[in-house]
Amino acid sequence: MEIKTSTGLCGEVDIPGDKSISHRSVMFGALAKGTTEITHFLQGADCLSTISCFREMGIEIENTADKILVHGKGLHGLSAPRRTLNVGNSGTTTRLISGILAGQGFESLLSGDDSLNSRPMNRIIRPLKEMGAEIESIDGSGCAPLRIRPGVLHSIDYTSTVASAQVKSAILLAGLYASGTTSVTEPVLSRNHTELMLNSFGADVAAVIHKDGSATASVRPCEELFAQKIKVPGDISSAAYFIAAGLIVPHSELLIKNVGINPTRAGLLDVVKAMGADITYLNVNSDSGEPTADLLVRSSSLKAVTVEGAAIPTLIDEIPMIAVLAAFADGTTVIRDAAELKVKETDRIKTTTEALLNMGADVTPTEDGMIIRGGNPIHGGQIDSFLDHRIAMAFAVAGLAADGLTTIKDSQCVDVSYPGFFETLQRLQGKANEN
Ligand code: S3P
Repeated sequence: MEIKTSTGLCGEVDIPGDKSISHRSVMFGALAKGTTEITHFLQGADCLSTISCFREMGIEIENTADKILVHGKGLHGLSAPRRTLNVGNSGTTTRLISGILAGQGFESLLSGDDSLNSRPMNRIIRPLKEMGAEIESIDGSGCAPLRIRPGVLHSIDYTSTVASAQVKSAILLAGLYASGTTSVTEPVLSRNHTELMLNSFGADVAAVIHKDGSATASVRPCEELFAQKIKVPGDISSAAYFIAAGLIVPHSELLIKNVGINPTRAGLLDVVKAMGADITYLNVNSDSGEPTADLLVRSSSLKAVTVEGAAIPTLIDEIPMIAVLAAFADGTTVIRDAAELKVKETDRIKTTTEALLNMGADVTPTEDGMIIRGGNPIHGGQIDSFLDHRIAMAFAVAGLAADGLTTIKDSQCVDVSYPGFFETLQRLQGKANEN
C-alpha cells in the first residue's frame, strides 16, 4: 500500500466493533442457553476465527449483514471438534478458548498461524494445569499447537505476574467449570470486559482493586448462562489511528463516532490530552452497557509525555501509534513498563522502533519500552508490517504526516482488526480536498 503526504483529513468515521468484546460475545453466547444477538460485531479475521472454532464445536452461528445470531447450547453443550481448531492470528481466541476447553469432556487441538504459534502459552498452561486441566504444548515449546484433554477442575487463587486480560479470562472461564470460587490477582487491572460481560450473562463475578493497585477478579462455578442482546461499541484501539491522524496531519478535523471509552481501555485518551491534543467528547453514554463517546479531533501541536505503570495495560495495543505521535511531538517521550509489547503479534518494541528509524525518527529501544526524541523531520519509508495489523495502521498514519512516499508491505494484514481501514483513510482525504 502506498501512502502519500496528506494535506488534511476531514469528515466522520464510524469505528468498527470492539475486537475484545466481539470475541467474548460469541464465546459467552455459545455457552449460554438461547440465542444471543450481536450487533456492530467486528467482522475482522480474528473474530471470524472465534466464530469458526465454535461452529466446529457444533454451535450454529448466523452471520448476516446486520447482526450475528449465536444459538447457544449451554455450558455443557459444545461437541468434540472433528478437526484441529484453527485460531488464525488470534491470541484472544487461543487463550480464552483454552480456558473453556479445559472444562469440556472431550479432547481438542488448537493451532494458528506462524505468529500465533510462537506466542507464549505457558502463561495460561500453568494456571490451568494448577486447576487440574490436562493441557499441553504439543512440541513442548510452551507455544501452540496445544492439546487439551478432559480434566476435573478445582478452584485456585492465582497470582499472575503480568496484567493480561487474556490470562485472567482463561482462568475465569475455566472457573465456571471448577468446584469452589476461583480468583485471579494481577499486578494492575487489565481490561475488564470478561468480568462485566460474564455478569450480564448471569455468572457471578466479583472484582476488587486493592490499595497497592493490584486487582482481583473471582468467579463462582456456574450452572447456567443466559443469552443476551449485545451492541458492541466501536473499538478504541481502531479509533486510535484516526485520533492520531487527526492530530498530526495539518488542517484536519475528524468526528470519530461511537468509540468505547471503558477506563480499562482508554489510556490513549489521557496520553493525547497530556500531549496537548485538541479533542472534545460528545454524546457520552452507556447505552451498550459500556461507556461510549464521539470524539472530535483537530490538528494539534503535541508535546512529549512519559507513559508508564498502571496506564500501560489501558493502552498496550495503542503503543505503536503513541510512539508515532511522540516522533511528531516536541521533547523526549519515554515509554516504560511495557515489556508485554515483545509478545504481541510481533515484538512491537522491535518492529515499532525499526519502522520509526526507517522514517528518520530519533528513537532508542529499551528492555521495556522505548525513548523517542521528537522533532526530527519524518520522511516516507518502506515499512515492513511483518504481518502485524497494528504496525501497518500506525505507520500508514505516520506516512500521511511524513514528507514523501511511504509504502507498507503486507498491508492486507489490517483485516485482522480493521477491514476497510485504507478505504476509510482515503475517503477522509477526499473530503478534505473538497472543502
Ligand atoms: C486482549 C487483551 C490484550 C490485548 C489484546 C486483546 C483481550 O492482550 O493486547 O489485543 O481481548 O483480552 P493481553 O491479555 O495479552 O495483554
